[in-house]
Amino acid sequence: MELALRRSTTGFLCLLLVILEGHKVKTDIAGCHFYDTVNLTSSQKFENGSYFYQGVEITPNRTGEYSHVLLPDGDRESVKSHWRGCVCQLKTCIRLCCPPNQYMTPDNVCVDGLEEETWSDHYVDITSENDTKSLDFHKDFVHQGHLPQPCSDLYNLYKNEGILFENGTFLRHYDNKHLTKQEYCIQPLKFNDSIQILPFNCAIKSGPDWGKTVAISTSIVGIVVTIAVFCLTEKLRNFDSICLISYMVCLGLGSLMQLLDSWQIPTSTLCEPTVGMRESALQKNRPT
Ligand SMILES: *[C@@H]1O[C@H](CO)[C@@H](O)[C@H](O)[C@H]1NC(C)=O
Ligand SMILES: *[C@@H]1O[C@H](CO)[C@@H](O)[C@H](O)[C@H]1NC(C)=O
Ligand SMILES: *[C@@H]1O[C@H](CO)[C@@H](O)[C@H](O)[C@H]1NC(C)=O
Ligand SMILES: *[C@@H]1O[C@H](CO)[C@@H](O)[C@H](O)[C@H]1NC(C)=O
Ligand SMILES: *[C@@H]1O[C@H](CO)[C@@H](O)[C@H](O)[C@H]1NC(C)=O
Ligand SMILES: *[C@@H]1O[C@H](CO)[C@@H](O)[C@H](O)[C@H]1NC(C)=O
Repeated sequence: MELALRRSTTGFLCLLLVILEGHKVKTDIAGCHFYDTVNLTSSQKFENGSYFYQGVEITPNRTGEYSHVLLPDGDRESVKSHWRGCVCQLKTCIRLCCPPNQYMTPDNVCVDGLEEETWSDHYVDITSENDTKSLDFHKDFVHQGHLPQPCSDLYNLYKNEGILFENGTFLRHYDNKHLTKQEYCIQPLKFNDSIQILPFNCAIKSGPDWGKTVAISTSIVGIVVTIAVFCLTEKLRNFDSICLISYMVCLGLGSLMQLLDSWQIPTSTLCEPTVGMRESALQKNRPT
């Protein structure tokens, strides 16, 4: 009886490991955040393995095969396998809300028809370490027009309400918060016949709920103590308590997920591959 139980437990743990390992096969480009990459599917690939994306050459060591996209909340969504290139380390990127060549209407709808000639004020101020320069929206940037929108209820800020840094960070003056490309986007907004390039962001969420945190943490501590007592007491080592312990482990994991959720920590990061594995995977997937 006990042997069978032990075997099935081992089997279960192995299955869990296999599932977690599955996550690790995916190849990311070493040292490059997902939000610094672009989809290379419709770009031309040369014999030497380089791609050209909006006029920028991306060498093979800056490309990788992805079968997921990273959502703004940190979760991963599986998509058809495709190649991506780390282009933002080569040229300044601008992270758009809408697909390329579209503009935003005041009701936050992306509409086709953004043509170069039809608007004059197409300069964006970019701040680097030492200075601020005005860059041409059409010529000086790589446009990242296919990243997932930060949230469904975007609202725009005005030009003087934040600073866009060269490294892609946006400083929102309202609360002095540095927003990453997962949290904001830039988009030309058409406002009764004039077009302005404005930053868009999401409503500021209230902080984590401390009452909930304390309650769930207390219950996790209780569960851990109970499991420890059942494991350490010789007298309680029988079939019933193994069932109870299994139940407690499930309950504890559930509570832990709830806690992470209330702190908005993406649970998918628990299974993130380590940097070493990422690099060895990259070697394997290099085009020849
Ligand atoms: C990448 O680009 C191709 C072709 O434009 C498109 O079919 C595919 O859905 C894109 N994938 C992602 C994840 O954006
Ligand atoms: C790769 O090939 C393209 C097209 O022939 C060329 O423009 C580019 O310079 C080459 N890159 C390298 C790193 O050799
Ligand atoms: C990629 O390779 C090129 C030469 O092919 C080199 O100049 C560049 O520094 C390398 N980049 C990285 C990130 O290794
Ligand atoms: C910024 O200024 C500092 C000194 O004032 C200098 O060392 C550094 O190289 C400058 N950085 C750039 C990107 O120009
Ligand atoms: C980007 O640059 C700004 C200003 O130099 C800095 O405050 C911010 O931490 C940088 N962000 C990243 C991700 O390096
Ligand atoms: C733009 O719309 C505002 C009202 O929303 C109006 O007051 C203003 O005159 C309009 N500007 C132009 C140039 O039509």
